[in-house]
Amino acid sequence: MNLNRRKLISWLGLGWLTSFFPSTLTGCSDEKSPIASSPIAPPETLAATPSNNFKAIGAIAQLDKDGQLVADKVGVVRDPQKPSSLLAVNLTCTHQGCAVQWKSDQKQYVCPCHGAKFAANGAVLEGPAKKSLPRYAAKIEKGQVLVSS
Ligand code: FES
Repeated sequence: MNLNRRKLISWLGLGWLTSFFPSTLTGCSDEKSPIASSPIAPPETLAATPSNNFKAIGAIAQLDKDGQLVADKVGVVRDPQKPSSLLAVNLTCTHQGCAVQWKSDQKQYVCPCHGAKFAANGAVLEGPAKKSLPRYAAKIEKGQVLVSS
């Protein structure tokens, strides 16, 4: 009797094991693990995200020292209305294409060719230009000024 009881327990145990493991393994393989479903994007997807379209053009310390950063016809200044924010504009005058210059004492861009004036955000303040300077997104990261390209 004892022997039969041991055999029965042994069989039940083995049966339980064989029925448990395959279903457990199948269950594991059907479900996605938290690691497999984590939002790790392939490199080409990351390259296409807007945050990767920013390009460093200089240090914020340099901008604060000079009042402006200029790179590739883009000027960046602190927003006179909200100094914690940056404003980036294309420095090509929309009238006839001269390079506008930032006048920090006036907090505006002035075109040396025909006198057009633009606000720090590129809006026309005075003609003959009629169109605003194109704007770019700008931000500060790790002490660097980044501008969208
Ligand atoms: Fe700037 Fe004419 S080119 S005002």
